[in-house]
Order: sequence, then C-alpha cells, then structure tokens
Amino acid sequence: MEFEGKVVLITGGAQGIGAATARLFAKKGASVAVADLDGKRLEKLEEDIKESGGNFKSIEVDCGKSEDIEKMISETSKTFGGIDILVCGAIFRPTKPLMEVKEEDLDHAWSVNIKGYYLSVQKIVPEFRKRHGGKIVLISSTFGFVGAPNFSVYCACKGAIVNMARSFSFELAKENINVNAVAPGPIMTEGMEELIKKDPTIESHRTANMPLPRFGKPEEIAESIVFLSSESSEYIHGHNLVVDGGYLAV
Ligand SMILES: NC(=O)c1ccc[n+]([C@@H]2O[C@H](COP(=O)([O-])OP(=O)(O)OC[C@H]3O[C@@H](n4cnc5c(N)ncnc54)[C@H](O)[C@@H]3O)[C@@H](O)[C@H]2O)c1
Repeated sequence: MEFEGKVVLITGGAQGIGAATARLFAKKGASVAVADLDGKRLEKLEEDIKESGGNFKSIEVDCGKSEDIEKMISETSKTFGGIDILVCGAIFRPTKPLMEVKEEDLDHAWSVNIKGYYLSVQKIVPEFRKRHGGKIVLISSTFGFVGAPNFSVYCACKGAIVNMARSFSFELAKENINVNAVAPGPIMTEGMEELIKKDPTIESHRTANMPLPRFGKPEEIAESIVFLSSESSEYIHGHNLVVDGGYLAV
C-alpha cells in the first residue's frame, strides 16, 4: 500500500475534511494520529478506522496551545515510532460582522488558526529531521484569497496560512520537507452545516456563481491532501492547491 510504514498527524480531524483525510490515509496503509478538542467524535472515528483494520491514535488536545501541540507530537511519535506527515486543519470560526467581533474572538482565532499551525510546524521539524524529511499540508481556503462579509476574522487567518506555506517552504525545502497548502472551496462538513444553521442563505449564495455549482465533499479535499503528502509531489513546494469547483475562477 502507498503509505505503508508512514505516520500521519492530523489536527482538527475528528470530523469533516480532517476525518475524511484520516480515513483515506488509513485505507492507504498509513498509521494515523488525530488531535482534536472533541473526545467523543475522536472515539467514534477511532472505532471506525480500527474496525476497517487501520492503525489509529486519538489525542484529545487544544491545538491552539503550545503545551498541547508538544503533547500531540510526542504522543504520536511515541505510539508509532516517528512522524512523516503533518496536516493542519483545526479551526475556530467566529462569523460576525466586523463591528461585533470581540477582542477575545480575535485572540482565540489567532491562537488556533494561525499560531497553532505555526507552532505545529515549528515543533514537528525535529521529528522530521530524524527521518531526513517530511510532508506538511496546511489547510487554507479560497477565503485566503478573497474577502467575504462576516468572515473577516476567518479570511485574515486563511490569508496568513496561504503565505505561511510559501514562507516555510523557503526554509524547509532544502531539508527534504515539502510545505504546501490545500485551499478548499465550499465543502459540506459538520462545520459548514453549523454555519448554514446560523445563516441559511449561505447554502444557496456560496455556490451560486461557481462553474460547478455544488458543495464539495470532504473526500474530494482528502484526495488532494494525500496527493501533496505523496512521493508524486516531491517537486511541489510553497504551493496553495485550490480545490474549489471553480469558485475562484469567477
Ligand atoms: N468546510 C469548508 O467549506 C471549508 C472551506 C475552506 C477551508 N476549510 C478548512 O478546512 C479545515 C477543516 O474544515 P471542516 O469544515 O472540515 O471543519 P469542521 O468545522 O467540520 O471541523 C473542525 C474540527 O476542528 C476541531 N477543533 C476546533 N478547534 C480546535 C482546537 N483548538 N484544537 C483542536 N481541534 C479543534 C473541531 O473539534 C472539529 O473536529 C479548516 O481548516 C477549514 O478552515 C473548510
């Protein structure tokens, strides 16, 4: 199997895109660790993946906290003997008009959505060095390239991730570490369902002007993440792979 012997750590992967990615990696033979706040959903994912014969480790942590990030890395490495691939997807989405955003929303968002990704990369590099290389896929968004009303905090975070992937690649490519990002368009995940519950207009507006006017499936993003983690992507560095049904084509 393609990822036999490889170890993957996914943040924010108890549901949605991260969970689909965990399932796909496990199906392809990788040992998978998922770090997430939601212990119940982690348990369910662990059950599913182990039932299908996969190697899985759940780690209940807050990926916006430095000590928790260290814990997720050391537990993954201890359980599986090292780490080859990091996927960062944990997300806090405060969707509010600009004038209603509170300072604590900003602190929370920056720490999970920006600082958490940064520290995860910084702290995993020593693990990758032990294996003489690695693959990092940060989940950005089409909202890292365009703005949207009530999403200013989210868009700011995703813009940071777009450029983080580019900048990290300058320092890590020479160590045989690929850093890239996947920028999904609108994907129907549990997180998206919650957004639609708060504002039902999102469902029709979000896909209205797209060449392919439908929500994507988490599995369609998982395929791109796995591709950027594979040997087929050795020459791809600092790239944001847009997977969006053409959302950014308009
Ligand atoms: N769904 C979309 O339309 C879409 C579009 C573009 C980009 N993305 C990005 O893809 C990624 C996954 O999105 P999704 O819709 O699948 O997410 P989701 O909202 O369905 O799931 C997010 C997961 O992150 C976890 N999480 C939140 N805060 C955390 C923290 N502090 N520490 C650890 N885990 C935490 C949650 O428990 C949850 O399991 C995110 O980075 C998101 O921004 C999603």
